[in-house]
Amino acid sequence: MPTLHLGFLASHGGSNMQAIIDACKQGRLDAKPCVVISNNSDSTAIARARQEYIPRYHISAATHPGETEDRAILRTLQAHDVDTVILAGYMKRIGPETLQTYRGRILNIHPALLPKFGGRGLYGKQVHEAVLRAGEKVTGVTVHVVDEQYDTGPILNQTQVPVMVGDTVDSLAERVLAQEHLLYVETLRKISEGTIVLPIFD
Ligand code: GRF
Repeated sequence: MPTLHLGFLASHGGSNMQAIIDACKQGRLDAKPCVVISNNSDSTAIARARQEYIPRYHISAATHPGETEDRAILRTLQAHDVDTVILAGYMKRIGPETLQTYRGRILNIHPALLPKFGGRGLYGKQVHEAVLRAGEKVTGVTVHVVDEQYDTGPILNQTQVPVMVGDTVDSLAERVLAQEHLLYVETLRKISEGTIVLPIFD
């Protein structure tokens, strides 16, 4: 039995999700990708899940009348025996019921060295724009546990990425994304091995 049972929430490309799926398939990570949920039915993340024969669901505020989006997401994660929730470019806030049930076991990846360059409005290219505008010489990647706020939960793992002279938002984003793929897999591997321990919340 794999150590971790992963449920992914992804809104767009899902390249981080794919890196994790590939690590599972290649035996580099002792985990099972159980389900993919997206708020965007046309997302590449959903297409990737289809390609990988992983159960996938489109869940948004409009898709489940009579049930909140939060409740539908929680029910779907539980129905697929998920024990660890992986946010992989998920652009929505996690609802209170899902957060409470999976407290301490919802992870996110952020393309900068939190607590710098995080918070509301700092996502995607905005993060790299802010890093370049601030004249930073080093940026990076953070994997953290999700709490009620944006990008504030306990940090589990970080890696640094140099900012090069002449970098554009796109060149920096590409260099950071390559490291995201490595760091998310490494962090999950350490969680599965017990060398990173997820925090217990009261
Ligand atoms: C990544 O840059 C990640 O840090 C951020 O959203 C992006 C998702 O990329 N949270 P992908 O969908 O995994 O390709």
